[in-house]
Amino acid sequence: MQGTNSLVIVGAQWGDEGKGKVIDYLASEADLVARFQGGDNAGHTVVYGANIFKLHHIPSGILSPGCTSLLGSGMVINPLVLLDELAELEKRDISTANLRISSKAHLIMAYHQVYDRVNEELLGDNKIGTTGRGIGPAYADKALRRGLRAVDLADVDVFRERLAQVLPLQNRLLQSAYGHEGYDLEQLVEIYRPAAEKLGPMVVDTSRLLSESLAEGKKVLFEGAQGALLDIDHGTYPFVTSSSTVAAAAGSGSGLGPQCAGRVLGVIKAYTTRVGEGPFPTEEKSEAGDLLRDQGGEYGTTTGRPRRCGWFDSVIARYAARINGLTGLAVTKLDVLSGLETVNLAVAYECGGSTTKDFPTGMEVLQQCKPVYEIFPGWYEDISRARTLGELPEAARQYLEAMEETTGVPVEMVSVGPDRTQTIVKPGTYLAGWCGD
Ligand code: GDP
Ligand code: IMO
Ligand code: MG
Repeated sequence: MQGTNSLVIVGAQWGDEGKGKVIDYLASEADLVARFQGGDNAGHTVVYGANIFKLHHIPSGILSPGCTSLLGSGMVINPLVLLDELAELEKRDISTANLRISSKAHLIMAYHQVYDRVNEELLGDNKIGTTGRGIGPAYADKALRRGLRAVDLADVDVFRERLAQVLPLQNRLLQSAYGHEGYDLEQLVEIYRPAAEKLGPMVVDTSRLLSESLAEGKKVLFEGAQGALLDIDHGTYPFVTSSSTVAAAAGSGSGLGPQCAGRVLGVIKAYTTRVGEGPFPTEEKSEAGDLLRDQGGEYGTTTGRPRRCGWFDSVIARYAARINGLTGLAVTKLDVLSGLETVNLAVAYECGGSTTKDFPTGMEVLQQCKPVYEIFPGWYEDISRARTLGELPEAARQYLEAMEETTGVPVEMVSVGPDRTQTIVKPGTYLAGWCGD
């Protein structure tokens, strides 16, 4: 039955929660790993031993031999960046033979990056702080029904024909509003030809492949990118990305029904970070924030920007649990909190004279919310070698219990370092079963 062998993994904060690490860990037991939204704005880091991989389009399953990796129809793909990503993996002897691309995925074109950059410039102080990868403009063109898709790229003649249909309008926009000279059709075709030749054979009907695999009882992971608070509908709009980042998008972004989301694992840091602009109630602009950034190595995987850092916020976590239907949590970076005398956890917001545990829907209200903290005792032990919950200090376990209580979602996994091996799976949970325990 669909659902029992599938797990959707999503970010439960503002992205960079450690999804890449968690997915890589679980992918060794999976048959397929599928991305379903976003593009190369994602930066998913996987570490094992001395190997560090930073993946942008390609699912973390690519590092598990025998696992098929899919780029789903809900994604936007920059063919030129994807080519580089493939070349980098192949250079490091990682096979990319099992990568498949949905024929329906949309393409991020060179002009989308121009729009992204100029849009941000024109917004000035109100800018979103995008990754500059052209994500928003590519999704906008998809909605405007003038996007190009992977199926178009698979055949250079079709690609030229489709581009010839849309380029006059794009050039007019570029020249009249974006201060850009525009693009020549044949030159663009030549730029994209190598991508067409390499990627063309990988383009398939991923919906059918996934549906058949699930029917055969294969184990499927759906790899989310970004996080709940960056969701286009439910995030801190307009400071969001341009795709649906919530678990329900795994179905629509893969060409499957909602039953495909058997279980939903929310990846969540033991504190909070955000890259880009927008409200962030528990942000610490003081020493505490600097300490989290330094100890947690909080610099963007895609842009290298320093991440904004603050305490764990159970108001957003509970909201993320609701909008995703989370069935479990994977708490990452617990090791980063070692050495603090006390650890803060936001249990509510104070706003306009009243206290609330509900995440407000208006950004103006959120901007004014002040976190109400419960303060927990910290711990000084290095926990990076712990492999069972029992090996964690009492204070760390207490903190995890508070995360469970305040979010209403059980912790199934705890990560105590970036390496694959630095992982604790709670016995008796769905994840323990996934891993064969
Ligand atoms: P993603 O986008 O959600 O995959 O997360 P990123 O890869 O952008 O950022 C997470 C960063 O934290 C990466 O550098 C990971 O290697 C690192 N990381 C993941 N889990 C842990 C952990 O438990 N402890 C520590 N110290 N680092 C971790
Ligand atoms: P992963 O998958 C963190 C943020 C950007 C910006 C906003 C819009 O690694 O968790 P976009 O380029 O998508 O139009 O930018 O979203 N953002 C991310 N922040 N992690 C990500 O991905 C992000 N992808 C986009 O910083 O605030
Ligand atoms: Mg990231």
